[in-house]
Amino acid sequence: MINQQALAAAISERHSVRQFTDKPLESQTIEALQEAIAAVNRESGLSFQLMTDEPNAFNYFVARYGSFRNVRNYIACVGPEGPGLQEAVGYWGQLLVLTAQALGLNSCWVALSFRRRKTPAVVEKGQKIACTIALGYGENPGKGHKVKAASQVSASDVQPTPSWFEEGVRGALLAPTAVNQQKLLLALKGDRVEAKATGGAYCEMDLGIVKRNFEIASGKDHAIWL
Ligand SMILES: Cc1cc2nc3c(=O)[nH]c(=O)nc-3n(C[C@H](O)[C@H](O)[C@H](O)COP(=O)(O)O)c2cc1C
Repeated sequence: MINQQALAAAISERHSVRQFTDKPLESQTIEALQEAIAAVNRESGLSFQLMTDEPNAFNYFVARYGSFRNVRNYIACVGPEGPGLQEAVGYWGQLLVLTAQALGLNSCWVALSFRRRKTPAVVEKGQKIACTIALGYGENPGKGHKVKAASQVSASDVQPTPSWFEEGVRGALLAPTAVNQQKLLLALKGDRVEAKATGGAYCEMDLGIVKRNFEIASGKDHAIWL
């Protein structure tokens, strides 16, 4: 498993990458990813599935229009249909995104630009594919997104604001969000944090992603959430 320090470094190194080289995933990398996915599936009850050398889900005009090129590897984010699915996929999927980054891969969360019916992922009755995470060796490492000011997305009723909270907010702002909306609010209340999505498509998935980045960047765990 990837250690916390490597995951924290991956928060700053990660940017969305949509164009990949022809290089197939190395076998040790596949093994490490499969191990991480199995651990996440055991703990979360979700059914993330690694698809390797599978060109069909991304081989069509919407993907190309969305500037995706050569996506042959991805994680299908599958889980039980229900109100908690989006946030859970975001929270656990972001751990896989950061793990992939630490293993030398690039990635992009993809909610829209793929064909659900073309993926061979196993989707049992009562489950759905919430989204995918494209993976591979990027043609480039991507670039940083426009980041909101911490004051736009956070509040603290503790003075002075503890540095772990500031670090967490910094990590949260580096998280990928749908169309880079960063519609979130992190409020420190005593020694715990309230996290809210403030609207927008896929904002529940964003919230899960942001919570994961916050936890890793602040050194806290799930117990931090109010
Ligand atoms: C839930 C979610 C869904 C996304 N869906 C798409 C998508 O369908 N197509 C796409 O090109 N990018 C998609 N993205 C990538 C975002 O546009 C990207 O994360 C955002 O612009 C921030 O840039 P960064 O990831 O480089 O930091 C998605 C991101 C998230 C978090």
